[in-house]
Amino acid sequence: MTKDYILVLYYSRTGAVLEMAKEIAKGIAASGLEARIRTVPAVSPVCEASEPTIPDAGPPYVTKEDFKNCAGIALGSPTRFGNMAAPLKYFLDTTGDLWFAGSLVDKPACVFTSTASLHGGQETTLLTMMLPLLHHGAVLVGLPYTHPALNQTLTGGTPYGVSHFAGQKNQIMMSKEEAELCFFQGKRVAECALRLKKG
Ligand SMILES: Cc1cc2nc3c(=O)[nH]c(=O)nc-3n(C[C@H](O)[C@H](O)[C@H](O)COP(=O)(O)O)c2cc1C
Repeated sequence: MTKDYILVLYYSRTGAVLEMAKEIAKGIAASGLEARIRTVPAVSPVCEASEPTIPDAGPPYVTKEDFKNCAGIALGSPTRFGNMAAPLKYFLDTTGDLWFAGSLVDKPACVFTSTASLHGGQETTLLTMMLPLLHHGAVLVGLPYTHPALNQTLTGGTPYGVSHFAGQKNQIMMSKEEAELCFFQGKRVAECALRLKKG
């Protein structure tokens, strides 16, 4: 039998969201659950992009099985005009069969994002990722203000999910608070999965 895992499913073009995914994975691992980091291929506006089945670098592409069998999910995307990026939405739009089957029902889920500008749509992007998760029946897990970093942060971090302010050229590294919130959010979603499993 495969060990229970939390799927950390993200898209990242220039690496900022990937770094967040890695911190979230550390938090998941601290709970004792496996963190399965997966990404999605880029899409093209001209036609379907032909990507190799295995990416040149970084985590593998997600499969429907990864999505179906997870104990919980952390969904991450860079902000694109205040919205999630198309490659992630494109993958989600292939999960209709899993939606009908109720594969994510009662499983905990959280969301994360990175932006170039401080007020460039972090919270709206997080909300756009929540919508398909709600349709899938997942139980959304946010960030409570009992974590001190949420009040102390001068960069990213929201109660809707963790965020990162990366700067115009993605030159800003994750702040201490952002990294702490990534870890905490990963740990929290994994602990919720363990609690929900116990019933
Ligand atoms: C087409 C496009 C739209 C973007 N829209 C926004 C936006 O609305 N607000 C913002 O702050 N940054 C925006 N960005 C910047 C990215 O969200 C930001 O660089 C992010 O940190 C990239 O994450 P990544 O390194 O994981 O790809 C946009 C970038 C692109 C390419």
